This record gives sequence, structure tokens and C-alpha cells, in this order.
Amino acid sequence: MGSKEWRTHNPSGSKRVIVTKELPGERWLNILTAADCKIEICTSPDVLSSEEIIAAMGDSCDGAIGQLTEPWGDDLYAALKAAGGTAYSNYAVGFNNVDVDAATRHGIPVGNTPGVLTETTAQMAVALTFAAARRVGEAEQFLRKGQYKGWLPSLFMGNLLWRKTVGVLGAGRIGAAYAHMMVEGHKMNLVYYDPHQNEDLENHVVNYSKFLESQGRAPVSCKRADTIEELLQEADCVSIHTILDDSTHHLINAERLALMKADAIIINTSRGPVIDEAALVAHCQKHPDFKAGLDVFEDEPDMKPGLVDLDNVVIVPHIASATSWTRQGMATLAASNVAAILQGYPAWQRPDISVFLEGEAPQAAPSIINADALNIPIFEDDATS
Ligand code: DGY
Repeated sequence: MGSKEWRTHNPSGSKRVIVTKELPGERWLNILTAADCKIEICTSPDVLSSEEIIAAMGDSCDGAIGQLTEPWGDDLYAALKAAGGTAYSNYAVGFNNVDVDAATRHGIPVGNTPGVLTETTAQMAVALTFAAARRVGEAEQFLRKGQYKGWLPSLFMGNLLWRKTVGVLGAGRIGAAYAHMMVEGHKMNLVYYDPHQNEDLENHVVNYSKFLESQGRAPVSCKRADTIEELLQEADCVSIHTILDDSTHHLINAERLALMKADAIIINTSRGPVIDEAALVAHCQKHPDFKAGLDVFEDEPDMKPGLVDLDNVVIVPHIASATSWTRQGMATLAASNVAAILQGYPAWQRPDISVFLEGEAPQAAPSIINADALNIPIFEDDATS
């Protein structure tokens, strides 16, 4: 199985599932054990190469749970298929590391873990927004270096975002949750850009605004921008919540950064390559009042030259979903995807996945991206069957 250490859980299981990283919690192990799986888990924190994953599959492997740091392409799905495998789940909601077409060609369902990252990731985007706006990283380093000599009227002046305009690029689950937090918590006007209208979000802001007015307070507004450019010009802070694919690669480039206000803030908790990171470094160098908060990087785990030296950038190591509840929930969903497919269950395909997180879960795979392409039946409960 290569040079990395692996441990086995439920050695008597009749189906073999490899898991390329230790996952938090116990429920996921119980789900796979109940599905009669022998679970082999790589205990190394190092990213596995494709060769190491293929070696781990060997000539008999029924399913796999992989990580966003691994390129799950034709080679891995061919190897999984050759080993008798029929199920794969990414331990992530994002699946830009997965060649879904390749998996489909090999007849392998691909699962992901939506629904449990929403508020957790949005919360990190909010944390980065205010850390950048209020210069938290910079001020903390100043203090730790012993440079604080006492209170001063203009020490570390930042941006007050209260009642300003928040821009959300990509108003899916996480983007909408971030919008709620910023609009309700900080009474910001919302401008969002998304190819799909988010009517729920729009209605919510309209109703919230009416509520504010009913309390004698100033309203807030919501606008769906026609173009990304319009959003960038209007917003005081912009948070990115798009997927990464060819259409969003370097969505934020030098030209678009130049449209933003001189003291605007840009936040990225989606995927690094959505921003041209070298262009961002150059922009932040040239505009010291501009700020950025980044959880993700273009060449993770590396950063473009100059980024770490910038005082106006707050950086964290891809931890936006890092809470126990979320990471255990992701493990539960990934295991449920694999266990369900191995047991011939249908796909759930509903937005509410909370039924899988505790108690007796439905006999279904919570989220299979290529369910339609593979003609996997969709779960119907007693009321609808
Ligand atoms: C995901 O699940 O896509 C996240 O990036 C992990 O935090």
C-alpha cells in the first residue's frame, strides 16, 4: 500500500473501502461498519500521490473516500473500477478536484457533502471580513512584537462596514448565508451577482427591511447586479462564493480589482484560483488601503511571492469549514454516500440533508453529483411513492 501508514477498522467487513485521511467523529465509521465494510484509513497527514492511492486500492476495493487535495481523474477511477469499485465520495462540498465525466465513464457515482458547511464557512467569511476591515492580524502582530506603547487616537484605524454595501459573488447556500449575516448583523445593503436569481434571499432582505422600517429604523436594500463589474464598483466589501471551473478561473483579475473602491475589501473562502493571486498581490502592494481576507490560495499550500509580506492581507490555511460539527457532518455524509451506493440505495438529492446527521438515516445516498448521468434512482419516501 505504499510507504504511508494505514489502519484498519472493522477488519471482518466483506467490502473494502479506502479512506485517504483520518476523518473526525465516530458516526461515519459506524455507518460503513453497518454496511459490512472493512475500512482502511491512511493515517499520514501528507497528501497522497495518485500512485499511492492506486497502490492502496490494489486489486480489490469496493469504494473510496478522497480529499480535495487529490486529483480524482481518469487514472484513479480506472483503477477503482478495475479493483471492483462502485462508489466514491469526496470529503468536501466542492469537487473541482474530481473529473466527474471520467467517473461517469467508469460508471462510478461521485458523492459530495453539501449542507453542513454552509453557516460554518459563511462565518469564516464574516470573520475574515472584519479581521481585514479592522486590521486584526496586523494589530495582533504589532502587539506580539512589543510595539504597543499605549492607546493612541489613530492607532490602526479601520473600516466601519455598518450600513455600507456588501457584495456577494455567487449567491448559493454559502453566499446567501454570508449575505444574511452581513445584512442582518451589520445592516448592510446587499448587491449580489449570480447567473441564477436567488428569490429566497431577495424576499428575505425585502421582508427584513420592512421589519426594520416597522421598528422606526432605516431600511436595507437588495439588488441583483447585471454584471460582476457593477457589483465590484458598488460594494465596500466583496465575498466570493462561486464554484471553481473554467468559467470562474481568475474571475477576479487585475482589471476587475482596478474597478473596486480604493479602500474596499475582498474575501475568498471558495477556491484559490478564482482570484488571480499575483494580480491581487500587485493590487494590494499598490493600494495600501485596499484589504483582502483569504482562506484559499491559487497554488495551495503555497502562496504567490509577496503575499505573506502584505499587512493589508489576512490569511488562514483553508479552515473555513473547520468546526467539529461541520467536519464530523462531512464525514457522515461522505460515508453515507459510499455505504448507500454499496448497498444499492437510491440518491436522496434533496436540499435538507440534516436527516443523515443523527438518529436513523434514510436508506439513501445524501448527495450524488452524477446520479442523473448514471440513472441512479431518486429516493421517494412513503408519502410520495
Ligand atoms: C469544501 O468542502 O469544498 C471545503 O473547501 C472544505 O473546507
